[in-house]
Amino acid sequence: METKRIPIYSILDDHEAVEEAAALLRAGGLVAIPTETVYGLAANAYDGQAVSKIFEAKGRPMDNPLIVHISEFDMLPDLVEDIPEEALELARLYWPGPLTIILQKSDKIPDQVSAGLPTVAVRMPANTVARGIIGACGFPLAAPSANRSGSPSPTTAAHVLQDMDGRIDGVVVSGNAQVGVESTVLSLAGLSEGKRPLLLRPGAVTPQMLRAAVGEIDIDPAVLRQLEDGRQAPSPGMKYKHYAPKAQVVLVEGDGEQYRNYVNRQAAPGVCALCFEEDGQGLSLPAVTYGRAADPDSEARALFDALRRLDEAGYVTAYAHAPAKDGVGLAVYNRLVRAAAFQVVRLAEEQEQGPAYGTQNSAGNGAGGEPGSKAGNVSGNGADGGSSGGPSKSSSREPSGGPSNGPGRGPENEPGNSSGKGSGDRPESKTGEEG
Ligand code: TXA
Ligand code: MG
Repeated sequence: METKRIPIYSILDDHEAVEEAAALLRAGGLVAIPTETVYGLAANAYDGQAVSKIFEAKGRPMDNPLIVHISEFDMLPDLVEDIPEEALELARLYWPGPLTIILQKSDKIPDQVSAGLPTVAVRMPANTVARGIIGACGFPLAAPSANRSGSPSPTTAAHVLQDMDGRIDGVVVSGNAQVGVESTVLSLAGLSEGKRPLLLRPGAVTPQMLRAAVGEIDIDPAVLRQLEDGRQAPSPGMKYKHYAPKAQVVLVEGDGEQYRNYVNRQAAPGVCALCFEEDGQGLSLPAVTYGRAADPDSEARALFDALRRLDEAGYVTAYAHAPAKDGVGLAVYNRLVRAAAFQVVRLAEEQEQGPAYGTQNSAGNGAGGEPGSKAGNVSGNGADGGSSGGPSKSSSREPSGGPSNGPGRGPENEPGNSSGKGSGDRPESKTGEEG
């Protein structure tokens, strides 16, 4: 099918284009729309058949439910069984905005949307083009992120077209996503059983902001760690691999100095650093940056585009500098650790355990030290490629150990392996959905 490009930058000036997008949606079609988080792939939330086409176009497992998007609060009562006080307060503070609330669903929600669950996820996007289109339709829109399943969420119309051209009826061409990572998902479904609100996916509405509205919340352990074997996912999206570029990603936790020392030792053809702008100098391997360490919002905005650029450049392995987990940084970490299939190298721990890297660090050159001031030193030390038992030499598959039991799948081991994800030892390597 031909995918119609529909430019909309202002709902007032581009009124006819808004109508055109709404007409496609009224006819049961699929249209990608901008939101402040990421682009979404929308269909009429009340039309089960239209919603089914979303799963087909994305290649998304049918058991992964969708978020329903509304343009005004009055659309909510039709979607849910009951609106608890906590939901009212959250909506008052953070809607429209990047917060999704899960509540018991009403009978009007087709099974295709809720994937058979008794609950529904709802959000009111801040993006005025998104709300303008929903308003013109007069019905809510079910919309997951507009990427092919398993690949990074789209933050630009060009990303959507990379994944979806020819598979959907239309793409609204609008500005880049302002936030860059998907909405915070908070479940209130357990409140009636006396449970606390449960954070299922971190986003730009941070845990601190949630607590300000509803008091104590629980954070699902799967936000930062791999879902334990045999545990049922509270959010089906958790069990699928997310946000993954084709390149193998390894997440490296440590300050700027530790990170540079470590990645310089991994330099090899096809290997790059996925790092902050502050890290850029002093690296002896190519770098793809994702924002500034000092500005978590900039990391969120840049991350998914950076993951796509890794693949465009054909990198086989990327060593990603882990963000701090405060504020929106928690969301950035959550997406990256999934992109890395939970393979984490913790340099801070290693520093305590052994002298190999620690001596450099004890000199007091922390993250803020001049980039590159020790680069010659470091790459000199590391030129042997990690003979002290770094990840490239290890055979352990422990996903979250320190470097001495790291991923063991560096490109030195598997030259030219650009399909690392499929080789079987990455968690969830075949399932391939994102959120
Ligand atoms: O920012 C966003 O939320 C974007 C934009 C387009 O709004 N949408 C998005 O949708 O990220 P999606 O489908 O890619 O991610 C929705 C996540 C999935 O992990 C899904 O499993 C979870 O929310 N989810 C949806 N409904 C749920 C429910 N009833 N119970 C538990 N988890 C649910
Ligand atoms: Mg998604």
